Amino acid sequence: MRLEMQTWRKVEAYLARSKGIVVPVGSTEQHGPEGLIGTDHLCPEAIARRLGETHGILVAPTIAVGMSQFHLGFPGSLSLRPSTLMAVAQDYIASLSRTGFERIYFLNGHGGNVAPLRAAFQEFYAGLSMSGRDQDVRVRCRLKSWWELPQVDKLRRELYRDGEGFHGTPSEIAITQAAYPDAIREFDLPPPPSHGRNDLIEHSGDNYFEAADYRRRFPDGRVGSHSALARREHGERLIALAVADLADDFAAFLRMA
Ligand code: NI
Repeated sequence: MRLEMQTWRKVEAYLARSKGIVVPVGSTEQHGPEGLIGTDHLCPEAIARRLGETHGILVAPTIAVGMSQFHLGFPGSLSLRPSTLMAVAQDYIASLSRTGFERIYFLNGHGGNVAPLRAAFQEFYAGLSMSGRDQDVRVRCRLKSWWELPQVDKLRRELYRDGEGFHGTPSEIAITQAAYPDAIREFDLPPPPSHGRNDLIEHSGDNYFEAADYRRRFPDGRVGSHSALARREHGERLIALAVADLADDFAAFLRMA
């Protein structure tokens, strides 16, 4: 159930039975030589929309551009500054809460978004706490990246082991192959260049420096990911497991006091 495809009267009726909504959030950035630029927003969007259709849950318009400054050395990448993404997220939260939503679940597809989104949640809560308007507020925000969902995390490790890597991962590419088979097919590509373990750990959680430095370290865009292991059939399984896990986590979120 996409929010933009409803009428206000339908949303009003929905709010009478549920206060929850899912917001897909991702990025628009290079994903290695064969991955789609939109991979990081197409994945959480596909999962959220499948959940919306199968479970009757509203899904907000995707925040499709994220905090990707370190990918700007590659053509086609777009980025919001951390402060811009925080402002966008806070305005989503403020708008949704103003119109009656109380459980706002951000399903994320890009590691670089995590710190700004967590900071945005705290800005929202700080605005309430520090103005003394916090007594009757029931709005709760949750952030989850799709690859953290437990059955998804287990399957991607089983399928790809070390080939999963960190960027241009076979799991995210498999999901795009399943969701958009006309746009991305299975392909051949050599394994990624090897990096020292310390280099990968140093930058875990998308903790990179400026874009030129990223391109020097990771010349074809991938970070330790053997993208060519991706199969459309894997993507179908990953989406199905993600929807099952997300349905459980969303239900628990709605019940949360
Ligand atoms: Ni990605």
